[in-house]
Amino acid sequence: MTDDAILVLGGTGKTGRPLVRTLREAGRLVRAASRNGETRFDWSDQSTWAPALDGAAAVYLMAPADPAVVPVFVQQATEAGVRRFVVLSGRGIEQVPATVFRGMAAAERAVRASGAEWSIIRPNNFNQNFDDDAVWRTQLRAGRLALPTGSVPDPFVDVHDIADVAAALLTTDGHHGEVYELSGPRPVTFEAAVATMARAAGRPIEFVELTPAEYRGELRAEGLPEEAVDELDALFEAMRAGHHTEPRDGVQRVLGREPLDFDVYAARAAAAGAWS
Ligand SMILES: NC(=O)c1ccc[n+]([C@@H]2O[C@H](COP(=O)([O-])OP(=O)(O)OC[C@H]3O[C@@H](n4cnc5c(N)ncnc54)[C@H](OP(=O)(O)O)[C@@H]3O)[C@@H](O)[C@H]2O)c1
Repeated sequence: MTDDAILVLGGTGKTGRPLVRTLREAGRLVRAASRNGETRFDWSDQSTWAPALDGAAAVYLMAPADPAVVPVFVQQATEAGVRRFVVLSGRGIEQVPATVFRGMAAAERAVRASGAEWSIIRPNNFNQNFDDDAVWRTQLRAGRLALPTGSVPDPFVDVHDIADVAAALLTTDGHHGEVYELSGPRPVTFEAAVATMARAAGRPIEFVELTPAEYRGELRAEGLPEEAVDELDALFEAMRAGHHTEPRDGVQRVLGREPLDFDVYAARAAAAGAWS
């Protein structure tokens, strides 16, 4: 599979960028694809799919919100010669209502039925939501992050660990049919995470606990569509229920090393000016 191209969907995103870098450093031929990526790929414009798939043997499948297009894409991909899929899913996917995260669930189903090799990664919340996500970064820079966490901790995982795992699954054998849950090494409450980031940035940042109703109100006031409000609400509900509180050893099993600790992430992000 060495000389074949690897198609990375979401190639400009939080996991896609480090994945593209890691694969290229390993000498792989990579297509970094998205609407604004090096390779143009738009889930809602099927004419962009065939050129992106041409010559690709493996696909990093970051699903769209619309579940209907996913099986169509997976079938087209296998017909075009794709022999391996790695799906980016999420921790708690089996506990959330079937009405949310439908794209990721459809991607899991489609690759299982594809006849090709597949593996699935289900990460916890990413560290990089705090600096790469416009909403949280803006709030942190303004000195206040407000969320409905119920003080339940999350073993946040770093996108560099996710990218290293995805690169291994895309380029080495022995992972067909595996589902890897990926987390950081220890659960951290959002309150503790914000305190760590404030210390690292050298400035005061407050964490405010919201009720779910207050949170929905804040999201609507920011202009989020109702579907996005439902998804974020479901995500925090799953978190408050403790569905993804315990660390998992997917990073260790695939890479044979420990995942990055939140303190290290916060120090690096602060040094790069994330919250200045
Ligand atoms: N963030 C988390 O903590 C977390 C945790 C677990 C699972 N996940 C899952 O990971 C996935 C990525 O989420 P994220 O928030 O981290 O986003 P992200 O990867 O940082 O950004 C989204 C990516 O998708 C591309 N994209 C958007 N619309 C597209 C379209 N119509 N066609 C093709 N590409 C499109 C964007 O590039 P362009 O704008 O250039 O198109 C970008 O590369 C989601 O499925 C999410 O549910 C996230």
